[in-house]
Amino acid sequence: MFALDFKNVHTHFFMAFGMKQTRVFQVNPEEPQTEAIGEAAAIIKAGGLVAFPTETVYGLGADALNADAVRALFAAKNRPLDNPPIVHVADVSGVYKLAQEVTPKAELLMKQFWPGPLTLVFKRYPDVPMVTTAGLETIALRMPNHKVAFALIKESGVPVAAPSANLAGAPSPTTAQHVFDDLNGRIDAILDGGPTCIGVESTVLDVSVDPPMLLRPGGTSLEALNKVVGEVQLHPFITSLAELPAEKARSPGMKHKHYAPKTPLVLVEGPSVVVMSKIKELISLCWFEDKQVGVLATDETAWAYEADVVKSMGSHRNVDAIAANLFRLLREFDAENVDLILSESISIEGLGLAVMNRLRKASGYKIIRPAVVQG
Ligand code: TXA
Ligand code: MG
Repeated sequence: MFALDFKNVHTHFFMAFGMKQTRVFQVNPEEPQTEAIGEAAAIIKAGGLVAFPTETVYGLGADALNADAVRALFAAKNRPLDNPPIVHVADVSGVYKLAQEVTPKAELLMKQFWPGPLTLVFKRYPDVPMVTTAGLETIALRMPNHKVAFALIKESGVPVAAPSANLAGAPSPTTAQHVFDDLNGRIDAILDGGPTCIGVESTVLDVSVDPPMLLRPGGTSLEALNKVVGEVQLHPFITSLAELPAEKARSPGMKHKHYAPKTPLVLVEGPSVVVMSKIKELISLCWFEDKQVGVLATDETAWAYEADVVKSMGSHRNVDAIAANLFRLLREFDAENVDLILSESISIEGLGLAVMNRLRKASGYKIIRPAVVQG
């Protein structure tokens, strides 16, 4: 008798449209199951693409030394080829195989902050494939502090190139579901180890120059870096309140649109009271124009708004929680179908610098700084 083989129909459907069947493996973040890690590592070794959790956000991994695999990585994300991924290692010896001129300052940073949310940019060895470093003379390296990431890199036996596992331009994924929403059918597998804990990406620090230069604020605070290595230069892109010309970018990622929800976002910066009254004024304007408006507020202020949707990032007193919630909230707003998101700002201390950098980018630099009336 003829029986329809659904599994095969499914497979043929995917193949006919040039799509992959994305397998999802549940893994215990504290004690990752060896079978799941083994299967995922086999995919990486064979040139495939596997998304995995790190302590910051989910990454999309490929063998960094396999140029075809890295090309497929760019294609799956729709990522421009001039924006290189971070290469992840499971032990410090991996650094000396990929980077040249590892200075005592860089060694001190690795000792203090690895494994952890700090990416270091070094002069690279010539034999790293061009595509992995987007033709740059440097390479960005990091040792993540997550058991699943660690086990996968170790078992793969290769350095793992892993940009954040989202479609280019979208907010980085902090859950396996976010990865699935963006990349289902485009990658081979997802290791689901639950939500990530830091929620913003690693700090990117260029140690090929002295003093080191901060290229992207992230999970390791500037204050913590200062304590260990003293002076750190801030790249002008980090403090900028406006979009700078692309040729000034030192880190290719700086010039690309990033972290943006599909819904337009306007960021209102300044002291809390002034920000609140400006946002209330803007809500009235939106309603007058029959527009649905959402507010990205904080625990201290959320009660005060009457808008179509109000979400709190968390309390000003707990910036780590705000960082952990940020990208999820940006994605949730897209599901609410509002026409505009009005976002409050927070202090740039600690992880606040990374949060404000992501919010400024998410707004496409549509920033309002209401005048503070002296009196
Ligand atoms: O937390 C993270 O860093 C996550 C997880 C998965 O590890 N990864 C991540 O990767 O955010 P990605 O590719 O989304 O961001 C890498 C950033 C980009 O802004 C890129 O331009 C910059 O690092 N970058 C990579 N290589 C570089 C290089 N050689 N010089 C300067 N910047 C570099
Ligand atoms: Mg990214």
